[in-house]
Amino acid sequence: MQFTALVSLVAASVAIASPAAHLKKRATCPGGQTVDEAQCCIWFDVLDDLQTKLFNDEKCESGVHHALRLSFHDAIGFSPALTASGQFGGGGSDGSIIEHADVELTFTHNGNLGGIVASERSIALAHNVSFADMIQFAAAAGVASCPGAPRLEFLAGRPFTSQASPPNLVPGPEHTVTRILDRMADAGFSANETVDLLASHSIADQHGLNPGIAGSPFDSTPHRFDTQFFIETLLKGVLYPGSTIGFAEVLSPLPGEFRMQSDFAIARDPRTSCRWQELADNPQLMRTAFRTAMAKLAALGNDRSTLVDCSSVIPNPDDDDTEPTLPGGKVADDIEGSCAATPFPVLPIAPGPTPTIPAVRVAI
Ligand code: HEM
Ligand SMILES: *[C@@H]1O[C@H](CO)[C@@H](O)[C@H](O)[C@H]1NC(C)=O
Ligand SMILES: *[C@@H]1O[C@H](CO)[C@@H](O)[C@H](O)[C@H]1NC(C)=O
Repeated sequence: MQFTALVSLVAASVAIASPAAHLKKRATCPGGQTVDEAQCCIWFDVLDDLQTKLFNDEKCESGVHHALRLSFHDAIGFSPALTASGQFGGGGSDGSIIEHADVELTFTHNGNLGGIVASERSIALAHNVSFADMIQFAAAAGVASCPGAPRLEFLAGRPFTSQASPPNLVPGPEHTVTRILDRMADAGFSANETVDLLASHSIADQHGLNPGIAGSPFDSTPHRFDTQFFIETLLKGVLYPGSTIGFAEVLSPLPGEFRMQSDFAIARDPRTSCRWQELADNPQLMRTAFRTAMAKLAALGNDRSTLVDCSSVIPNPDDDDTEPTLPGGKVADDIEGSCAATPFPVLPIAPGPTPTIPAVRVAI
């Protein structure tokens, strides 16, 4: 108690001494953490709930993967082109995928989001935070548990109510690169920024495309935010990991690993392949570019200046000091180098035979 009082006193005197700081309402939360704005304190309680109820007190497991995917599927319901044509274009990161789950979860590309929507809805209601904030907070807090990830920005204060997103705004794995890039450009993302966002598939796995191999990941390290996804998607496809071929599934380089058509195509398309290759060998750029693109995604449809920066609630991710590597049993010739301007970098090869990639455990 005495310590808490002292911290408040120090914070108060800093506020008086510094002309800029007086605008901020620095506060000490009930748990003892210091934040810039008192209204950020609630997010420490939400974080505790998330860790136990959604992330099962584990790191970078399936609850985190679902939460990150949900942040995209809420946000991308946003089309300035539709708005310009006189229709409702969607509210972006507005929580509509939870508030109007009855509508949006019927969209084909929102498959397998029912569980995470129900969990986040109940946690948001318990703490009286908006669904829109809840979705972006869960993604940022979840990503923070993945070694190698950036510490994402988290802004609070999105509205509590929304309208259902129009259909057909979520990109699908069967779509052409042109269709995906056009859709993303409509929402405000360049081709390179779309690649930057796909760093998310470094901590991801599938459930609905081939249910027979639910949990099959998109790279060999779905619990680490590393560049293996950008490397492994460029390897020659040689096998199907399941006993049947799934929806929009294409040949994979490694047993157990799942490759979707759109990732295969974006990795090789002249509009995106150089960015893809650049990220394959540059974990630092992958982190900063993902952080920047996620900040934009999380704010879609909102006016940033009306939101409050509560980023200090997001935990610091662990480092990942593993090197970008070709999986065991692969050689440089297995890479389908697709950036015309620059040859694919020479990477070390992991020792041992070709690994079989285990499925991500389906926890929730
Ligand atoms: C732009 C084109 C994209 C396409 C076509 C696409 C497609 C998909 C598909 C089909 C799945 C498998 C879902 C399932 O069967 O469970 C998936 C999973 C996932 N996606 Fe994407 N995605 C895209 C972009 C993004 C973006 C921008 C993010 C986040 C910023 C994201 C995050 C994830 C995550 C984290 C998973 C794993 C979900 C889980 O394990 O439950 N994706 N994506
Ligand atoms: C929930 O939060 C909103 C917006 O901050 C506020 O208007 C409302 O009074 C709160 N409801 C309860 C029950 O605290
Ligand atoms: C996209 O990224 C590539 C590779 O980093 C770069 O060469 C190119 O200039 C970028 N394009 C734009 C429009 O920034």
